[in-house]
Amino acid sequence: MGSAVTGWGSALPSLRVDNNALSQVVDTSHEWIAKRTGIHSRHIAVDEDATTLGTQACAQALEVAELGAGQIDLLICTTSTADALLPSQAALIRARLGASNAVCFDLNAACAGCVYALSTAHSLLQTMPNMKRALVVGAECMSRIVDWTDRATCVLFGDGAGAVVLERSDNDRGVLACALRNEDDVDDVLRCDQIYSCDPPFSADGVIPCTQEQIAANAEAEGVGLEQALANAHCTGKAPLVRMKGRDVFKFATRVIPQMLQEACHQAGVSVEELDLVIPHQANERIISNAAKKLGLPLERFHRIIQETGNTSSASVLMALAHAYQQGCIQPGQLVGLVGFGAGLTAGAVVLRA
Ligand code: ACO
Repeated sequence: MGSAVTGWGSALPSLRVDNNALSQVVDTSHEWIAKRTGIHSRHIAVDEDATTLGTQACAQALEVAELGAGQIDLLICTTSTADALLPSQAALIRARLGASNAVCFDLNAACAGCVYALSTAHSLLQTMPNMKRALVVGAECMSRIVDWTDRATCVLFGDGAGAVVLERSDNDRGVLACALRNEDDVDDVLRCDQIYSCDPPFSADGVIPCTQEQIAANAEAEGVGLEQALANAHCTGKAPLVRMKGRDVFKFATRVIPQMLQEACHQAGVSVEELDLVIPHQANERIISNAAKKLGLPLERFHRIIQETGNTSSASVLMALAHAYQQGCIQPGQLVGLVGFGAGLTAGAVVLRA
């Protein structure tokens, strides 16, 4: 039994921001960004959010698979930039889509989320008798957590969503093998802290450092309203933004892409050379070409959309996979390798037969 990809879709926000537009925001240039990353433009969600983008990608995937939303048993959303902490992003998409029979949850494995989510969906389809059809969606609004004053990171990321339908199949089509790996990020090479704007009104020893009476008295003394004084007392206003040591991420990525692809191919009983197409995480054109070289594969075998999308984190592999299907780059029976890496540090690969 396998889990076959029977539908695919993707969505981009309507606003396209090219490198020249970015050079008006930070001290950079089209030449620098294009040469060092391969990125020419990215899309930024202004009117959209992760729910609208994710739902759009899922609806497209359902249309290709010729399924109704009610026929989906499982919906996994991979994201690091969900619209809400509660409920899950998957629950928001499920409701918007009308996938009222789906069990749903989020999965965060940073940019490698796509391969983690596909592996999880595949496992559940193989082991849960009542689960036959799954939607795996990556929906990211990276523009929410990017430091727009840091030219070394803000030029890299974009927003978007990608989705696939996976269906349990009785033939040899579909997911053949999955390989996942984690390494501790001991040097904090990639990190974005959480938005918790409220401080609980207790200290570690249980003492209440700032009672409501004290806040009210302070408010009166300072001449500010009570509401404002309460907000000042309990809100830290920390800004959670992506911090990255680019060169270290680069080294990690170019080491693990070949390793993970080789591991997944080994498990599938095929060689890397047999892969007809590789869909890598779209983080940097130079990372992709470096990995292709290490594997001894022609760069043309690596499907790339990064020029137009930038790095859309966990949505990127799903978006590139949908693009490859839409462009006719994947034919039935062909072998496809998906590979991702990200904060954590996470890495993984999936080998499937189309
Ligand atoms: N425009 C112009 N100059 C810049 C820019 C910019 N946008 N960004 C950095 N520079 C400058 C630096 O200030 C530095 O200047 P200096 O020499 O005067 O100090 C110079 O360019 C070189 O900087 P480096 O950081 O050494 O440049 P590098 O060649 O390493 O490229 C990059 C930086 C593109 C970030 C690269 O390291 C990279 O791609 N790393 C991987 C990043 C990545 O993929 N992250 C995400 C993966 S995981 C995930 O998807 C969440």
